[in-house]
Amino acid sequence: MRLNGKVAIVTGSAGGLGAAYAMAIAREGARVAVADVNAEGLHGTAEAVRATGAQCLAIEAELGNEAQVVAMVDQVLGEFTRIDIVVNNAGGALLGSTAEIEKVDRYKWDRVLEMNLTSAMLMSRAVVPELKRQRSGKILNVSSRSARSTGWFSSVSTDYVAAKAGVIALTRQLAKELGPYGINVNCLVPGFTISGPRLQAAWDSMTDEERNRMLEATPLRRLPRLDELASVVVFLVSEESSYITGAAIDVNGGSFMS
Ligand SMILES: NC(=O)c1ccc[n+]([C@@H]2O[C@H](COP(=O)([O-])OP(=O)(O)OC[C@H]3O[C@@H](n4cnc5c(N)ncnc54)[C@H](O)[C@@H]3O)[C@@H](O)[C@H]2O)c1
Repeated sequence: MRLNGKVAIVTGSAGGLGAAYAMAIAREGARVAVADVNAEGLHGTAEAVRATGAQCLAIEAELGNEAQVVAMVDQVLGEFTRIDIVVNNAGGALLGSTAEIEKVDRYKWDRVLEMNLTSAMLMSRAVVPELKRQRSGKILNVSSRSARSTGWFSSVSTDYVAAKAGVIALTRQLAKELGPYGINVNCLVPGFTISGPRLQAAWDSMTDEERNRMLEATPLRRLPRLDELASVVVFLVSEESSYITGAAIDVNGGSFMS
């Protein structure tokens, strides 16, 4: 097992991709803390992780709230005594956010930046003292293909695209600062993924033409399976990727080129 003895925090893990990442990391031998605002989903994930035989701590937290993030890190250290891996996966877009600049809603803009970018900064800030003390650690942030290219999907909102582009810049900045302490900081860049009922509904609500346009813009001509993202997450938080830092890894079937 590639993560034996390690302790991982996976945010945004009440379901969807975060739950898949938590399960994959647990299967590799790590103890896992899962964190989300969605308490019901969170406890479902924790039970599924424990069913693999792994130890799992479920922490209900609003990751845009500094005090809750700090308390969460303290709780993980209290329970597991160390932290090796943080996957800053929490995020997403808000219904009704727009791609048109004249219609951008300031409240939604702030909230989407908080969910996707500020949350990653707060979590990184809270765990870095421990990672520096250990002189090792892996921080994996989650961006989006929509931060790479404006093509294909005109309805992706301005706030989300800006936040996810900020996640890539944050990754590079932290990688440069923390590399001398033996801490790797990388970024995963998924494309459209049916991660659960919400994304399934989004896919189902598209016209055939929209779906075909998306697949034609994807050289591999298909959407990913969740395990195709989770396996890259495991690689990026394991020692197998020890000489990779500051990288934004496109796991989007090549659609970042479109
Ligand atoms: N599914 C896709 O097509 C896709 C594509 C590119 C990037 N991503 C990114 O991957 C990540 C996971 O996506 P998903 O499809 O599994 O979405 P999801 O909505 O199923 O999962 C996101 C989780 O983050 C949690 N969350 C959001 N903001 C939070 C906050 N402030 N505090 C605590 N929890 C918070 C939500 O409650 C939710 O459980 C997100 O960052 C998303 O932007 C997804």
